[in-house]
Amino acid sequence: MNNKTHYGTSRVMVECLDCGHMAPFSITAIACPNCNGQWREARYDLEMVKQVLPEAVQSRPFNLWRYRELLPVAGPNPSLLMGEGGTPLIRAANLGMMLGCPNLYIKDERQGPTSSFKDRQAAITITALKDAGITEAVLASTGNVAIAYSAFAARAGIKLWTFLTSLVPAEKMREVAIYGSQVVKVTASYDQVKQVAAEFARQRGLYLERGSRSIPSVEGMKTIAFEMVEQITEIMGPPAAANNHAQAGIPWRSPDWYIQAVSGGLGPHGVQKGFDELWQMGLIDRQPAMAHIQAEGCSPMVHAWLQGREVADPIRSPRTLITTLATGDPGRTYTLLRQRMLAGGGGLFESVNDEEAFRTIHIVAKMEGLSIEPAAAVAFAGLIKMVRAGQIKPSDVVVVNCSGHTMPIEKMILGDNWGRDIEVAPQVLRDTPEEGLFSALSRVTSERFSRIAIVDDTPDARRLIRRILQSQGEYVFYEAANGREAIELAQHELPDLIILDLMMPELDGFSVLDALKNDNRTASIPVIVVTAKELTQEEKARLQGRIHTLMQKGEFLNDDLLDEVTALLK
Ligand SMILES: Cc1ncc(COP(=O)(O)O)c(C=O)c1O
Ligand SMILES: [Zn+2]
Repeated sequence: MNNKTHYGTSRVMVECLDCGHMAPFSITAIACPNCNGQWREARYDLEMVKQVLPEAVQSRPFNLWRYRELLPVAGPNPSLLMGEGGTPLIRAANLGMMLGCPNLYIKDERQGPTSSFKDRQAAITITALKDAGITEAVLASTGNVAIAYSAFAARAGIKLWTFLTSLVPAEKMREVAIYGSQVVKVTASYDQVKQVAAEFARQRGLYLERGSRSIPSVEGMKTIAFEMVEQITEIMGPPAAANNHAQAGIPWRSPDWYIQAVSGGLGPHGVQKGFDELWQMGLIDRQPAMAHIQAEGCSPMVHAWLQGREVADPIRSPRTLITTLATGDPGRTYTLLRQRMLAGGGGLFESVNDEEAFRTIHIVAKMEGLSIEPAAAVAFAGLIKMVRAGQIKPSDVVVVNCSGHTMPIEKMILGDNWGRDIEVAPQVLRDTPEEGLFSALSRVTSERFSRIAIVDDTPDARRLIRRILQSQGEYVFYEAANGREAIELAQHELPDLIILDLMMPELDGFSVLDALKNDNRTASIPVIVVTAKELTQEEKARLQGRIHTLMQKGEFLNDDLLDEVTALLK
């Protein structure tokens, strides 16, 4: 069969959410021909798609076009293709261990063409515009949408007018401009910028990106869900068919939680639609719970959710430094998100403050080696909050959406002392080259950092504690794997602090403490006990007055331990 007719755009219908009217999809038809409603959704012949999709994807490259049967375009345009979608699902072993959440995964959208999940909507929309012969378009953005569309528009030869709030970091604006897009900086709230862009598009009769009301944008976001279930299945195997007859033959496995930072809500809106379609086709074992995380200073959805309301009141003046997430008025997207979430796998709306997000940038970078932007950090900070609140269980499979673009914010969260300078006078180098270099380099390492001894018989536990502390400070670490080593280490190195496990074979933590306190040299070194043991009254009495703090393993989260340590070492 000819590709064009089989996968041609006419196979996609669009249903009006107000009157149910169905019409064939066309990128230029933005309203329902029956009632003029603008809220519509793409519909596919799911009965047909479910027969072909699981097998068809297997022979296709791992990018978002492998799900073309569920997209409103004929297929990839080879001249636009940049390998969009197909981002890795990365296991977050360190963060998972810190949170007691071993099945924690990161959908690394930083690895898309412009480092955010907005590449997906841009790829589909620009492909559809190009197919339709459209050469000029308009959008409003808090940065990432403009960057993604500009990259694809450059390849497509489409002229783009981007309306950005003046709060968007200059680095992001310049990135938009470098692709050749028109940058219009508007000093107003993001909601107002959207109105300005819409009016501009209306006056000129240009295509306008409408977020959740734009069919190609929503459809692009679905591919995150499709990729996720394939990737989780590859890692964990298909749903447990052997134990459960009802699940026999279901090819893909869903996570228990999907976590994403939310501004206007387009991302999760599309992702939920993706899960919904997979569920309707019987291709997944269940729908995941969705966690929508907003910046506290601009969290209209969270307010409405907590009040049990279906409609969110707009926030007129957002108060967050995380401009990417500054949609004050989510409009109907919130209502739809909430409805679909409650009808599907459940979930919640939660917020975190800017400080929590910035702190989380450090944690994710230092524990997982991923440099993420503040908006993505909002999702991770939400994860930490949910684990702490017991909403995420240790056995849950969790996926967090992650994006990049760190450059604009490094200044803000890193402070000034993030590097060291060496200056080597040419004269010195010429006369005594080795000596000159040696003395220059010795200055690099001579700085005095606090010295911490970590005593624990399990290497993983030592590594975890080291990582947690490293994630926010500079320390010199020593490690001891048993009581005897610990005592020797303490006497020899006289560390500034000892972090001590209690349950160790042979010489346990109590005996180590006895030895330390009975030796003048080590008696005054502060000790933090970190233990998995439920202590008896008698044991607690043995520690009383001799240790600084008692922390329960699995209970302490990064900042509790950190706060203790920094307070002690001040
Ligand atoms: C990195 C990142 N996260 C989250 C969002 C929120 O987008 P939305 O709520 O529209 O899905 C954006 C929007 O630009 C973003 O760039
Ligand atoms: Zn209608």
